[in-house]
Amino acid sequence: SSMEVLATPPSLSPPVVLTQDELKKIAAYKAVEFVESGMVLGLGTGSTAKHAVDRIGELLRLGKLKNIVGIPTSKKTQEQALSLGIPLSDLDSHPTVDLAIDGADEVDPHLNLVKGRGGSLLREKMVEGACKKFVCIVDESKLVNHLGGSGLAMPVEIVPFCWEFTARKLQNMFEDSGCVAKLRNGAKGEPFVTDNGNYIVDLYLQKNMGDLRVASDAILRIAGVVEHGMFLDMATTVIVAGELGITIKNK
Ligand code: 5RP
Repeated sequence: SSMEVLATPPSLSPPVVLTQDELKKIAAYKAVEFVESGMVLGLGTGSTAKHAVDRIGELLRLGKLKNIVGIPTSKKTQEQALSLGIPLSDLDSHPTVDLAIDGADEVDPHLNLVKGRGGSLLREKMVEGACKKFVCIVDESKLVNHLGGSGLAMPVEIVPFCWEFTARKLQNMFEDSGCVAKLRNGAKGEPFVTDNGNYIVDLYLQKNMGDLRVASDAILRIAGVVEHGMFLDMATTVIVAGELGITIKNK
């Protein structure tokens, strides 16, 4: 007897479940469609942005993009871009950036972001603050109703000098939100050190911190604070990749 091969009706075929990394890649490739030859590009940091930088390198190699200048947002991305042969510069030489592509840890309905769980928030904020367009790329797990309310960390970059003093000030400032401030550790249990030689304090909140602009200003007024991971009103576009497809949200 011969084996009968039956075509499965499309409606009965099992759904294709994409991994989180595949979703990140889909969002990243979509964002790179916004890149044009001659642009000064902010290159983001993290596992999502890495796909975008890879893709930009590939398009340069294939000759489909030309005369790109990349402004990396971390030493790690700088190394990646160099290995791909992407020409690099910095904000001193290129104070205006055409387009930045970067990931985020949380995205709220107003396109405000939390960034910095990868520790690169300061350079990211400097580069993305200098951009005409900032395209943020995420998989759908990053969408939240309120920033900092997900039980995950709100990162704050602080100077190492008397870090406990600064961490305590941050915790006390948000005690009404049930804030616990923890120094971020590196792989060997020593303090995590940023590209700028600073520490990161992660704020764990039980409830959201209320008005984000007020919270932002208050954090930045603490002398030992360098920058925080709330990116308010900075993303011009957010590309969300989900199981049901890509959603593009514009400011
Ligand atoms: C690093 C960041 C990253 O963009 C953020 O942590 C998202 O990372 P990933 O794409 O790996 O989820 O802000 O400082």
